[in-house]
Amino acid sequence: NFEQSLRPQYLAQYIGQHKVKQHLEIFIEAAKMREESLDHVLLYGPPGLGKTTLASVIANEMGVGIRMTSGPAIERPGDLAAIVSSLEPGDVLFIDEIHRLNRAIEEVLYPAMEDFCLDIVVGKGPEARTVRLDLPPFTLIGATTRAGALSAPLRDRFGVMSRLEYYDAEALTEIAVRSAKLFGAGISREAAVEIARRSRGTPRIVNRLLKRVRDYAQVRGDGDITLDMAQQALELLQVDPLGLDSVDSKLIEAMIERFRGGPVGLDTIAASIGEESTTVEDVYEPYLLQIGFIQRTPRGRVASHMAYEHFGFALPEA
Ligand code: ADE
Repeated sequence: NFEQSLRPQYLAQYIGQHKVKQHLEIFIEAAKMREESLDHVLLYGPPGLGKTTLASVIANEMGVGIRMTSGPAIERPGDLAAIVSSLEPGDVLFIDEIHRLNRAIEEVLYPAMEDFCLDIVVGKGPEARTVRLDLPPFTLIGATTRAGALSAPLRDRFGVMSRLEYYDAEALTEIAVRSAKLFGAGISREAAVEIARRSRGTPRIVNRLLKRVRDYAQVRGDGDITLDMAQQALELLQVDPLGLDSVDSKLIEAMIERFRGGPVGLDTIAASIGEESTTVEDVYEPYLLQIGFIQRTPRGRVASHMAYEHFGFALPEA
């Protein structure tokens, strides 16, 4: 499908994340030279920055297959056993949201990662015994929004830990141009910049906005994505000039209106807008911190003057 075809397949096509790419290039080449499987990789950072994409790029570069699953999908040790025992030598096992694996599964995963074997309990009660199952060497790629939520023993078993960062305007622009080309749509540089600016550092949002702008340009214009078309479409869609969404604005507005701009504790602010604290901390706060709308202080979160101005509030009395 289209979503899939927008995704780069090789590191050379993967835009941005320069440092992560540079490191992976070396580790991949070294593993290939030694004809070994790549060491286990943990990818962490906010959603939409390309962790899943990067996992499939790594598998392609290694020339191996990839099995994709997620922490919550693996309910029992047997689920994990079924997956890992079907891997071919060198394959990648991708576990999204790996911080949501339960403890019992983690216990099964440790020897699988370290010694490529599974200790499975068969039978019940006095009949129960463990059998050791050898596995082919494989690469576990874990993805999470919060490396801190992994248990230390699991975290320690990853040989490579890469933190994905928000993309800068230039990289996002390049991604918009690349995706438009794959869609077969003409796009001007200025239009790509405009879409990039409203995508809060996130390629997934670039591609989403690009599709809507492309629809608009097709219906209201001649299909070419010009700056004018992009601006009109984004206005119509009420996309915030900084790409902030309704949860971002609810968060900031609550801080300002109900807590005088802070300082206010994370749990308090999350409860007041009906979101989980972890969602606020892992999904919404990182970008608001990055653009300086929120500051963290020892006494809680504080909304900055920029945040007041962006959402049209009068600045607080000094
Ligand atoms: N599409 C989504 N993310 C991308 C990236 N990092 N590079 C190229 N194309 C992308």
